[in-house]
Amino acid sequence: MRIVGMLAVVVVCLGSMGWAQAAPAQPASAPPILLGTAWYPEQWPESRWDADLTLMQQAGIHMVRVAEFAWARMEPAEGQYDLDWLERAVNAAAKHGIYTVIGTPTAAPPAWLTQKYPETLRIKEDGRRDQHGNRQQFNWANPKYRELCRKIAAQMAQRFGHNPYVLGWQIDNEYANQSFDPDTQKQFQDWVRARYGTLDNLNARWTTQYWSEWYSDWSQIPIQTGYGNPGLLLSWMRFVSDTWRSYQKNQIDAIRASADPRQFITTNTMGFFDGFDHYTVEQDLDMAAWDDYVGQGHLDPVRNGATHDLTRGFKRKNFWVIETQPGSVNWAHINNSLDKGEVRAMAWHDVGHGADTVSYWQWRSALNGQEQYHGTIVGSDGTPVPLYEEVAQIGKEFAKAGPVLAGTSPKSEVAILYSYDSRWAIQWQKHNGDYDPVKALLSYYGPLRAIAQSVDVVPPTVPLSGYKLVVAPALNVLTDAAAKNLADYVRGGGHLVLGQRTAMKDDDNTLYPERQPGPLGALLGGRVEQYYALEAPVPVEGNFGAGQSQLWAELLSAKDPSTEVLMRYGVSNGWLDHQPAAITRKVGNGRITYIGAWLDDASMRKAAQWMTTDAGVHVALGPVPEGVDVYPRYGADHTVFILVNFAKTNQTVSLPKEMEDVLAGGAKKAVILPQYGVAVLTTK
Ligand code: GLA
Ligand code: GLA
Repeated sequence: MRIVGMLAVVVVCLGSMGWAQAAPAQPASAPPILLGTAWYPEQWPESRWDADLTLMQQAGIHMVRVAEFAWARMEPAEGQYDLDWLERAVNAAAKHGIYTVIGTPTAAPPAWLTQKYPETLRIKEDGRRDQHGNRQQFNWANPKYRELCRKIAAQMAQRFGHNPYVLGWQIDNEYANQSFDPDTQKQFQDWVRARYGTLDNLNARWTTQYWSEWYSDWSQIPIQTGYGNPGLLLSWMRFVSDTWRSYQKNQIDAIRASADPRQFITTNTMGFFDGFDHYTVEQDLDMAAWDDYVGQGHLDPVRNGATHDLTRGFKRKNFWVIETQPGSVNWAHINNSLDKGEVRAMAWHDVGHGADTVSYWQWRSALNGQEQYHGTIVGSDGTPVPLYEEVAQIGKEFAKAGPVLAGTSPKSEVAILYSYDSRWAIQWQKHNGDYDPVKALLSYYGPLRAIAQSVDVVPPTVPLSGYKLVVAPALNVLTDAAAKNLADYVRGGGHLVLGQRTAMKDDDNTLYPERQPGPLGALLGGRVEQYYALEAPVPVEGNFGAGQSQLWAELLSAKDPSTEVLMRYGVSNGWLDHQPAAITRKVGNGRITYIGAWLDDASMRKAAQWMTTDAGVHVALGPVPEGVDVYPRYGADHTVFILVNFAKTNQTVSLPKEMEDVLAGGAKKAVILPQYGVAVLTTK
């Protein structure tokens, strides 16, 4: 989200709102690309704040996220609210030109709360009650907990909802944990009843004649996770998602009652975390934001890039990286630091994918607490660590590039479809234990992104006609709405590529009574005759060269005379020998293709070349050397290309036309990038 046009507000007007300390009189607009950090003023004496804020300002930091774990400080006893300190912190930051995002503290309830209301603690799957001392111990479905959350959020919103330095709100922190208590189970049973209406309907859809699973009363329905009836498993995860949505809505309503509309509301998600359907939960938010951690090792621009694009797809617009690692984390097996220069490269990779803010977790480590070893920007003594200079460089560069990046966003001709239903359905019955639906997605994403230089990751029900190519890897569960959307897309002239395991199951995680691709079979003019989990790769050959299928192979048939075979299996288990592995059919101006093999990298590159060429996908910038990532961001009258070199050696990128080099200055026809080198180029 672009934070622009913030109204100048004169502080005296706000006197009646009880400002504990005067803020600077006139906030300017927040910069379009923000560098930020998580800051925990409650952990430090106020006398220290100014030194920290001065160092932040010197590093070009313009945003702090605060308060998301400060419940005990804000409400030390029930109903006794103390927000004055936080207001002083917000205003102290403002004096340094630093805006604030306020987190609601509900991921870390105070000890008095759980002592007084033990029913607000979650019951873990093993039946034991969680306890105070870590975080996320609450029960997200508990009405009493929600009441207490609503009250603290309302207090915060009344205090900060008009503060001109508060840009927005983060609800809670990294939604994750479920509760398995009897009341939640009852809520789940009510949810199931609302969805299915009658037990006859539910019994039919879940095929409960299997193993005597048949229900004669709603109260008999258990909670199952991981292993269970597929219809029940999917229902539980949908209930979990809806319950996160209502948990969040409870706080959104409390904030919206007092907050200026210009203040956004977001939450911080965790990339490909699959503990709830993010498309469900994000509906009520203004903007998506995620916590981008590499953990052990180094940035994988393909995987991390896909995760950015997934997050951008939640709201289909720019998003924030609201947490990222300053060098290292503390929770991996080996908490190595990113290399010198890599943190900067990562920041630009983030912005390239559509992040309008990059915010480090965290500024300074608490002297005690569970995360003493985590990467920071200043040390325990409060003075800069070596990374500080690199962060300050990013700060300078964001300031320089902000004006040309303002109002720009990525735009893609290629979409990859993703659905949580499908992800879960496969994970519950992998059939090949090594089968990872995210890796299946990445096997397409990597080569397609390298060619098109921009890819969207979106759910299968969004409007698709703007895309030249739509790819559905492992879209195992195909709802009626999605099936219709995809068929319409092909009939409307789009090129649809279906990957392995696609269109096997319906909206209830029930097998289609047709073979894959179920309702799309007629359009394809072919089908999956049989699937095989593979112990070892099998050979494939055809239009995409000679290669291998790994983990999984689907034996296809081309029934319609207009359905062509693109690839065939070589000799392996007898069943697959010489049988179709990829088929395609032209439908009017459109095309539908099914790829039944998990292609190796080289064949997948050829497949990606074939499908992008056939679909008429443009290359955003033009060919670049291997290892260089291109990130286009489009504005109304210009395009910005961000280039990052992840190769180990210098790379020269020639540009299709002269462009302005925003960071280095001057008009360029080519740029030379060292490892982790960055260039920001604009067409205007
Ligand atoms: C056992 C069970 C069957 C079935 C098979 C599957 O033999 O008795 O009901 O589950 O395993 O291999
Ligand atoms: C998550 C949390 C933060 C912090 C970091 C550490 O992203 O949201 O509070 O614990 O992990 O990496």
